[in-house]
Amino acid sequence: MKHLEDKITQVNSLETLEKTRIELFGKKGALTAEFKKLKDVPGPEKKAFAEGLNQSKANLQKLYDEKYALLKKQEIEKILKAEAIDVSLYSSLEAKGALHPVMATMDKIIDYFIALNFSIEDGPKIEDDFHNFEALNLPKNHPARDMQDTFFCKDGGVLRTHTSPVQIRTMLQTQPPIRMIAPGAVFRKDYDITHTPMFHQVEGLVVEPKGEVSFANLKAILSDFLHYMFGDVEIRFRPSFFPFTEPSAEVDISCIFCEGKGCRVCSHTGWLEVLGCGIVDPNVFKSVKYENVSGYAFGLGVERFAMLLHKVPDLRMLFEGDTRLLEQFR
Ligand code: PHE
Repeated sequence: MKHLEDKITQVNSLETLEKTRIELFGKKGALTAEFKKLKDVPGPEKKAFAEGLNQSKANLQKLYDEKYALLKKQEIEKILKAEAIDVSLYSSLEAKGALHPVMATMDKIIDYFIALNFSIEDGPKIEDDFHNFEALNLPKNHPARDMQDTFFCKDGGVLRTHTSPVQIRTMLQTQPPIRMIAPGAVFRKDYDITHTPMFHQVEGLVVEPKGEVSFANLKAILSDFLHYMFGDVEIRFRPSFFPFTEPSAEVDISCIFCEGKGCRVCSHTGWLEVLGCGIVDPNVFKSVKYENVSGYAFGLGVERFAMLLHKVPDLRMLFEGDTRLLEQFR
């Protein structure tokens, strides 16, 4: 069967090997044809003939298997060579990621309050009327609800307009004393150079036995915090109104762009508003059934802080994902 063996030996690709396999071992192949001759072989020679055939078949099978293994190995080597990656090759993609300035600012704010032993609390972004408004002394039809341009959900829920509902959730879950901050995303229908429909706030709440915290404590902690954030700036507390605090104040820092001389950013007032705060309104404590306590609360916008810290002129730029802006914060 030398001629059949040659067929295998001469093959040099897997495709032709497959064709050859069918030619030799297939139902209509050469070997089958040989075996068919067996019936015409005279009786005494049959045994030797059959043994010879089986031996040839085994030899061919062995040749085939060896050839197959060799060709397969060559094919794999070829692929490995063609698809090789030179991991030592120097990359031109040197751009590295960095924390987004809003998150970096958030982290800086959180660090301050962690150092003062505040806990970090969380709440849902889809709120209900009770937590977002009612319990915060904003009853239905209260005109102050208009201050917040609310996104309403079909089922009566709201996208939380501030992080203040987390005050309520925390007070309902724990007992005083409380020292907490609540960082997170909030939503309002607003879009211009200082407003985006989604932004981040950090809420703060301190609750102590009655008489143990005062506006003086609030003033002290926020002044220290603002110096930590903005360095050597002037700070002023301006009377204001929030339904959930009484008295309430807004806090301004001297404009960091013009150092208080007056410019476009501070609308020529020399001051920039950065915080809302106040003494917790007794109606808020009533809605969570707290008695004989006093406390203070504050809330700030993280994007506004980031914008001021990094002198970003348009708040919307923080959300455009333009790498030319982001690269500057690496
Ligand atoms: N929730 C207020 C706002 O979003 C901020 C604030 C929080 C004011 C806590 C006072 C006390 O504008």
